[in-house]
Amino acid sequence: MKYQIIYGSRYNATRQNVLWIKERLELEDFEVELSNLKYAKVSQDCEFLILATGIYSGQAVEGFNDFIKENEDIISSKKIVLLATAMNKENCFDEEKNLKIIKELPLSVKEKIVLQEVLFGEMIFKTMSKEDKVSIDYFYKNIMHLEGEALEKMLMPRTLLDKKDVWEFSQKIINLS
Ligand SMILES: Cc1cc2nc3c(=O)[nH]c(=O)nc-3n(C[C@H](O)[C@H](O)[C@H](O)COP(=O)(O)O)c2cc1C
Repeated sequence: MKYQIIYGSRYNATRQNVLWIKERLELEDFEVELSNLKYAKVSQDCEFLILATGIYSGQAVEGFNDFIKENEDIISSKKIVLLATAMNKENCFDEEKNLKIIKELPLSVKEKIVLQEVLFGEMIFKTMSKEDKVSIDYFYKNIMHLEGEALEKMLMPRTLLDKKDVWEFSQKIINLS
């Protein structure tokens, strides 16, 4: 069985999650090709395609939707696993329990999604771009109305990355084959 994983990740949390998935799939002797969205070319000979992205203000990373639209024909010829990495899992799903980011994808691609999930990520304020720092600061202060100790706590490095969770989820991918 051959898999390709194409991931978009700003601060490497999605990259970490897909590396754990790759590691687990390889323990089943599956062949796994890992590609960063920025340099990816969809492989002709994989049956399963895992598309993974970090979530920013409810959206996929820059370039993710465009990549899928530009490669719609080949992507929609695969069985697709769609993954999001985020801090709040519930907010990523709509009322029908679909990932909200699905709305931006072409119908032919949506129809080929066989599995979708949100995996936990991490937030390290210190490593963020200036734009992301401003955006997070605004969110905590003006939308969540945090201040004092509560604000300080949210700005501390926080990780929810969890290899155990990711390996448990990987079993669902294995069961598809
Ligand atoms: C500016 C900004 C906006 C974010 N928006 C969301 C969001 O809407 N929902 C969420 O659950 N997490 C949100 N996050 C947290 C990211 O999804 C989390 O840091 C994730 O690990 C990023 O993955 P990546 O490093 O692979 O890009 C946001 C983070 C930043 C910096």
